[in-house]
Amino acid sequence: MLVLYLSHIIEQIGNGGAVQLTHYAKAKLQEEKVFKDPVHRYVHVRDQVIWDLVGTKEFQRLRRIRQLGTTFLVFHGAEHSRFSHSLGVYEIVRRIVDDIFAGRPEWDEDERLLVLCAALLHDLGHGPFSHAFENVFELDHEFYTRQILLGDTEVNAVLKKVSAGFPEKVSQVIEKTYPNKQVVSLISSQIDADRMDYLQRDAYFTGVSYGHFDMERILRVMRPRKNQVVIKATGMHAVEDYIMSRYQMYLQIYFHPVSRSAEVVLNNILKRAKQLSLAGYKFKHEPTHFLAFFRNSITLDDYLALDESILFTYFQLWMQEEDAILSDLSRRFVNRKLFQYIDLDPGVELDKYQKLQELFKQADLNPDYYLVHDTTADLPYDFYRPGEEEVRVPIFLEMKNGELRELSRESIIVDSISGRMKRDHKVYFPLDFLEDNSTHPAVKKQILALLQGKGKN
Ligand code: NI
Repeated sequence: MLVLYLSHIIEQIGNGGAVQLTHYAKAKLQEEKVFKDPVHRYVHVRDQVIWDLVGTKEFQRLRRIRQLGTTFLVFHGAEHSRFSHSLGVYEIVRRIVDDIFAGRPEWDEDERLLVLCAALLHDLGHGPFSHAFENVFELDHEFYTRQILLGDTEVNAVLKKVSAGFPEKVSQVIEKTYPNKQVVSLISSQIDADRMDYLQRDAYFTGVSYGHFDMERILRVMRPRKNQVVIKATGMHAVEDYIMSRYQMYLQIYFHPVSRSAEVVLNNILKRAKQLSLAGYKFKHEPTHFLAFFRNSITLDDYLALDESILFTYFQLWMQEEDAILSDLSRRFVNRKLFQYIDLDPGVELDKYQKLQELFKQADLNPDYYLVHDTTADLPYDFYRPGEEEVRVPIFLEMKNGELRELSRESIIVDSISGRMKRDHKVYFPLDFLEDNSTHPAVKKQILALLQGKGKN
């Protein structure tokens, strides 16, 4: 049952024309729905639109995609899904707009439903094991988010009931092209609801002690200003804590060398399957779910049909394949027999890397699949990044006199890590193969000597 608001709201759309919103935009559930959440305790839903979006099949699909990809192979608790993260981001934004921003002259209440929908749907286009999947098939989850919002989907049908131009507006907020940057920065800036949720959620589910900060305090000191959201200067220390927690989570969790090893193996399984398929290899089990991806003729339905359980099913089937590389890599992923690694930057030690490639070939180990350079980079905080494709709005503190000051100019802690890019290069390889002396013992000895004394394990 709905409580209907009969007043009609006038909405300005992009082309300047005025359209009437249906009363659906303001429809409230008669009773509030709550989701129990380990991070935010409860996620509250009163809006009919939000409730209907959660019930769509495209949003439910996010239950079958892990938030942290292969990290569960290192931190076994990290089984949480993009579904729980998306609800969490929605809940943070809901608290900001309903508890902190509501009634303030700088906040436009007409943006409320838009920003809630964008928060809920911001990761809608993520595929299974996003990173490796997008890399091998040259896909972009943001493209698919847009397709799902605007295409023939259940999500689109719900959004369209709000108004004809509403799906496009939600898409613009997620793509950061929406004119009102205040709305955009709630979802993506250097201190946005997306990051605030994933830092806490990932810390909770991995079980690490970093990643915690006083979000309640940060929310209390957030203020809507023209085209941006600022932080009252009294909240600076809570923000410092947030920046540090982000810095530590990247080093300890997101760039963990062993989950990157799993990612490397996963990447190469997909790469091998694609290569075999294009070369006309006859699979024992036709990989029907993947054919469109191998041929690069992907429809939205093909994309939405995949999830992580389907990928795992294929990996189990591929363990039985004739192709030695595909079956070996699949076995490694399923049974967690991952690659070892050393710190090596081919940009600096090119000779050594090329020598290794040569020796791997001599040892009958295809270096395309068994000698992999992987690099990560992170910028914990920055106020300006020239040439960066994804420019994030810096954090501004609002002083008592109303003056705005960029965070790193006020905080010694933030200043010390500001603009510092952390880069890490590793080379991954199957140590068990190299230690197996039944074939090419002399070459393998040479390889091991080259790899020795670097990195761990
Ligand atoms: Ni997200």
